[in-house]
Amino acid sequence: MATTILVGAQWGDEGKGKIIDVLTAQADVVVRYQGGNNAGHTVLVGGDKFVLHLVPSGILHPGKISVIGNGVVIDPCALVDEIEQLRARGVAIEGNLLISETAHLVFPYHRLLDGIRELQKGKRKIGTTKRGIGPAYGDKASRTGLRMVDLRAPERFAEKLRRKIRESNEILKAFGVEPLSYTQVCRCYVDCARKLQPLIADTVTWLNCAVNEGKNVLMEGAQGTMLDIDFGTYPFVTSSNSTAGGACTGTGIAPHRMDKVVGVMKAYTTRVGEGPFPTELCDGRGAMLRETGQEFGATTGRPRRCGWFDAVVTRYAVMVNGIDELAVTKLDVLDKLPKVKACVAYKVGRKVYETVPQDVDILQRCKPVYEEFDGWQTSTRRARSFKQLPSQAQAYLLRLSELSGAKIGIVSVGAEREETFFL
Ligand code: IMP
Repeated sequence: MATTILVGAQWGDEGKGKIIDVLTAQADVVVRYQGGNNAGHTVLVGGDKFVLHLVPSGILHPGKISVIGNGVVIDPCALVDEIEQLRARGVAIEGNLLISETAHLVFPYHRLLDGIRELQKGKRKIGTTKRGIGPAYGDKASRTGLRMVDLRAPERFAEKLRRKIRESNEILKAFGVEPLSYTQVCRCYVDCARKLQPLIADTVTWLNCAVNEGKNVLMEGAQGTMLDIDFGTYPFVTSSNSTAGGACTGTGIAPHRMDKVVGVMKAYTTRVGEGPFPTELCDGRGAMLRETGQEFGATTGRPRRCGWFDAVVTRYAVMVNGIDELAVTKLDVLDKLPKVKACVAYKVGRKVYETVPQDVDILQRCKPVYEEFDGWQTSTRRARSFKQLPSQAQAYLLRLSELSGAKIGIVSVGAEREETFFL
């Protein structure tokens, strides 16, 4: 495996948690490199459901080291909660989890500002998870953020926090929101710092040593290509680089040391939050995909918007991430359909787009050009090899691969670890 980057090839929720869980069997180290507790990775192990928001899913495999990289923004209270819940379910944390000392922190004022900005945007709102992710990355870019390393220096932490809370309270007051109490926030963060202290490390050096020693490192992307701050449907995106480049800046492992990029995509498309979605099905077919695929947000519980597979999006994802191999998830969700469609291009009037237009207003007006496939109308849940799939499902997958421009290496036909096979 060496160093493998795993990214979402659509708008997030592609089933990355499950694929990471399967690939972790070959990994020594699993690293999260961007995002925060806006992500929700669902993993089913022997009928037990785990939803992870900040901790890499490698933690569910005894003997593997999980790392929260420097590119992640961490809400320490949410992280402490997650760790305590994992401990309560018998998951060993000590010695298995490292947290980067240079990861930035998310504070209550980030969450409040996230909510205020969404309200201010009105109809143009992004539909964020309201976890404060955008404002936290905003402070990082403005060089006014606080980092894990600050939690280790109580005086510096207190002084920086006092300044940030004073500034944020002015903004909150202007919007008629109750100001925050410095004492309460500080007390809560100092308490979390005490609990997290043993796990905080120089992960940049640690990870580079692991690579030098020939360890297999799996880099776990959150969200997806179309939510990337640079390559997604801006401004309807998250605030980090969820694409493969983010794995370098979010871990400190240099680009030439990355060996492989795996892109995860569903056999159809979903999106949560606002923004353009050309293949969205706003009728009963969308509702059917949502019910069959249980398409409800793992973090916010919001119903996901559902639609046909969009090869314009996955082709673009293959290009910007350099995807070597695709993992297709939730093929079984299409099992009952008599016909299945995949979008091969977009049209606005007479103009045809074979790649994603960067202007969201144009993308909003794009109409999908579809190719239609015969459905297989039989369960794929028991298939454990490509050959065991019905011929129509095989034809569909081969065409998705061709349209996206990368080979398919993994297919998932159910939520359990076992319901997966390699090609
Ligand atoms: P934020 O990351 O909370 O700022 O939200 C920005 C956009 O990204 C919104 O449309 C969210 O719904 C979306 N988003 C953030 N995290 C995830 C995720 O893990 N899966 C899917 N969508 C996400």
